[in-house]
Parts: sequence; C-alpha cells; structure tokens
Amino acid sequence: MNIAVAGAGVVGVTTAVELKKRFRNANITLISDAFEEDTTSSVAAGIFRPGGDFTGPNRDVTRKWIEDSWWYWKELQESRNGAECGVTELSGYMFSNRSEKVVRNAHLEKLVPMYRSATEEELSNLTPQKWKFGSFYTTLLIDNTIYLPWAMKNFRQLGGEILHEHITNLQRLGSNYDVIVNCTGLGAQTLCNDDALVPVRGQVIKVDAPWIKTFFYADTETYIIPGFKSVTLGGCRELGSYNLDVDKYTALGIRERCENLVPSLKPASTIKTLVGLRPYRKPVRVECEITRSLNGKPVKLVHNYGHGGYGVTAAPGTALHSVQLVREVLSGNSKL
Ligand SMILES: Cc1cc2nc3c(=O)[nH]c(=O)nc-3n(C[C@H](O)[C@H](O)[C@H](O)COP(=O)(O)OP(=O)(O)OC[C@H]3O[C@@H](n4cnc5c(N)ncnc54)[C@H](O)[C@@H]3O)c2cc1C
Ligand SMILES: *[C@@H]1O[C@H](CO)[C@@H](O)[C@H](O)[C@H]1NC(C)=O
Ligand SMILES: *[C@@H]1O[C@H](CO)[C@@H](O)[C@H](O)[C@H]1NC(C)=O
Ligand SMILES: *[C@@H]1O[C@H](CO)[C@@H](O)[C@H](O)[C@H]1NC(C)=O
Repeated sequence: MNIAVAGAGVVGVTTAVELKKRFRNANITLISDAFEEDTTSSVAAGIFRPGGDFTGPNRDVTRKWIEDSWWYWKELQESRNGAECGVTELSGYMFSNRSEKVVRNAHLEKLVPMYRSATEEELSNLTPQKWKFGSFYTTLLIDNTIYLPWAMKNFRQLGGEILHEHITNLQRLGSNYDVIVNCTGLGAQTLCNDDALVPVRGQVIKVDAPWIKTFFYADTETYIIPGFKSVTLGGCRELGSYNLDVDKYTALGIRERCENLVPSLKPASTIKTLVGLRPYRKPVRVECEITRSLNGKPVKLVHNYGHGGYGVTAAPGTALHSVQLVREVLSGNSKL
C-alpha cells in the first residue's frame, strides 16, 4: 500500500508520523516543496491557544480535535524528550480593556492545569497600563523549529520516505498512490480550487530576551511569547493579504506596542523579523473526497487544511481524524 502526505508543515508532518504508526507496513511518502524553517509553521510562536474563530464542522468535532491535540502535546511534553521535541509548559497573562470575553477561553479552561482571573494587584501593577480584565493560565508551547526536524527524524526512523517536490496536480499524483492526504495549508487554494481558504497575514519579530519567562497578550493584537530560542513579539492579522515581505512600519508598531506592555524588552536585540500567511478556512477542512485521475482511475483524497491561526494548537487532533478517514477510505467505509 502506498500513501502520500502532501505538505510538511506541522499538520503534514504530524499526520505522516501518525499514519506511519497506524499502518506500519505501508509505504508512506511525505511530499513537499518546502520544509522546516521555510514553512508557515516555523514562523508561529506556537502557543496552545484555540481561538474562538477556530471551528470544525460542528462543536463536538471541534472539541474533540482540541482535546486530542492537548493530550498529544501534553504527552510529548511529559515524555523525557519534552525539550528535545520542542514542547514545554508556559504560563502567562491575557489582558483586555475592551471585553471580558477576550480573557476567557472555554476550551482552555477545561483542559489546562491552571486558569484563573488576574488579581486586582496584577491588573494594576504588572504592566505600566492598568487593565479592566485579565487572566493568568498555564498552557503549552510548541516550537516548530525544534518539533518539525524532530518529528521528521522520527518519521524516517519509522521507515517513512521524504520527497522534495512541488505538486502541480493532485490527480496526476493519484496514479502512484492509494490515498493522498492533502496537508498543503494555503497551497490547497490552488491545488483544490478552494475559494473558502484565505490568507491572514502575520508578522512577528523574534528577539533575544531570555529574561522573559511568561507570555503576555494585550487583547489579541499584541503578544509577547517566550520560546526555546527566542521571544516572539507580535503581531498583526491582515485578512486577504499575500504580502510575504516584511513591512517596516508594522515592525516598528509591534516593537512599540510590546515595549509599552513590557518595558524590559527595550534592550532586546532583534534576531529576525518573519512573515507568514495563516491558511484560514471556516470550517477547517478534514474530509475525504474521491476524484478521478487523468486516466479515469479513482483517486482517494483526505483533506486536512485551513487551520488559520491555530494550526500548531490543533495539528494532532486533525491528524488523528485524518488517519481515521484514511482507514475508512481504504476499507471502503467512508460516507461518500
Ligand atoms: C505570525 C504567525 C503566528 C502564529 N502563531 C501561532 C500560535 O501561536 N499557535 C498556533 O496554534 N498557530 C499559530 N499560527 C498559525 C500556524 O502557523 C498555522 O496554522 C500552521 O502553520 C498551519 O500549518 P500547515 O501545516 O497547515 O501549513 P504550512 O506550515 O504552511 O505547511 C504547508 C506545507 O505544504 C507545502 N506545500 C504547499 N503547497 C504545495 C505544493 N503545491 N506542492 C508541494 N508542497 C506544497 C509547503 O511547502 C509546506 O511544507 C501562527 C501563524 C503566523 C503566521
Ligand atoms: C512499497 O513500495 C515498494 C516499491 O514501490 C513496493 O515494492 C512494495 O510492495 C510497497 N509495499 C507495500 C506494503 O505496498
Ligand atoms: C484601561 O482603562 C482605564 C480606565 O478607563 C485606563 O486608565 C487605562 O489606561 C486603560 N488601559 C489601557 C491599556 O488602555
Ligand atoms: C488538495 O485537494 C484539492 C481539492 O480536491 C485537489 O485539487 C488538490 O489536488 C489536492 N492536493 C493534494 C496535494 O492532494
């Protein structure tokens, strides 16, 4: 049996590893035109925080994806190779002056080890500005510059194949594989003619500030998230923009907003400024499709894309769902 996974971001790599674990004797090939540092996934800060606009086909599925994802990352973090695979626990604050909704998160409140309201003292004295609403919680951080290479090594050790190739046509690819899992992120837009998928441009600055040990959000626009090798300062969300160039005014704005929030960042030197296009789709698409190859042979596809700003958070849950769909589509049980 031959299975292809298209796309080597956090979604594709996690899906490939899980497929290889479930189908030990099958040939699994991970095909992508970019890897590791060249993917949107490695631009991400990588905090586990499902936003309110992250949705699957219905509430139950969305909840299952998020819960499965949490326990997957938690297990990696607690295993001895937590640091080796780029997953760690992280605590911090979310503040808002606008709405209490910003600082609440129904999914996280049920899952994380600690989630509480900020105290009066924290609201008044933790940052130079005072806040009306705030919360403090512990979650996880997944650093893709460590996790992606680790998971790809794991995949190779399990016997997986990796192909560096640009895919222009999934149907053509179909003649070589029994199933293709489509984890191409924004690439699915052209590959799948999917108009529901849009870019949400993000820009971040990775700075050297090892003294920052907690994360801070000021509403959802400004954030400071410490990782393994740097602290990520953000951000912006520009719906519909394809601009992959760094915008210097956005960078100045991010610096100013973050330094106002946490003044100790002022001396932090910039490591690099990065831009990524979040592959946003409502709902995220995890489903099977059977199309025809150029010579009329049926091609079995399992789609897994459109995670928007929450692909690091939700990659494992959607990967496990995709593996289930692969199993169904191969045994002819899929509801098509
Ligand atoms: C600034 C920023 C900050 C973020 N912060 C967070 C965060 O803190 N937490 C969180 O959960 N999420 C965050 N995200 C969102 C997260 O990065 C994305 O949801 C996630 O990376 C999507 O993963 P993916 O694997 O679907 O896509 P990608 O990482 O884009 O991977 C797609 C892969 O498909 C390949 N590909 C595409 N088209 C083709 C083709 N035609 N042929 C061959 N290969 C192809 C690409 O080369 C790539 O390897 C952030 C995003 C940005 C931009
Ligand atoms: C894996 O691929 C090889 C080469 O294409 C093929 O000979 C072999 O039968 C495949 N294995 C399975 C389990 O299909
Ligand atoms: C929040 O509102 C209070 C009272 O209106 C104000 O004093 C404070 O500066 C505001 N904080 C921010 C960060 O805007
Ligand atoms: C992804 O899905 C779309 C829509 O079905 C399809 O056209 C495209 O070829 C797929 N891409 C891959 C890599 O399977």
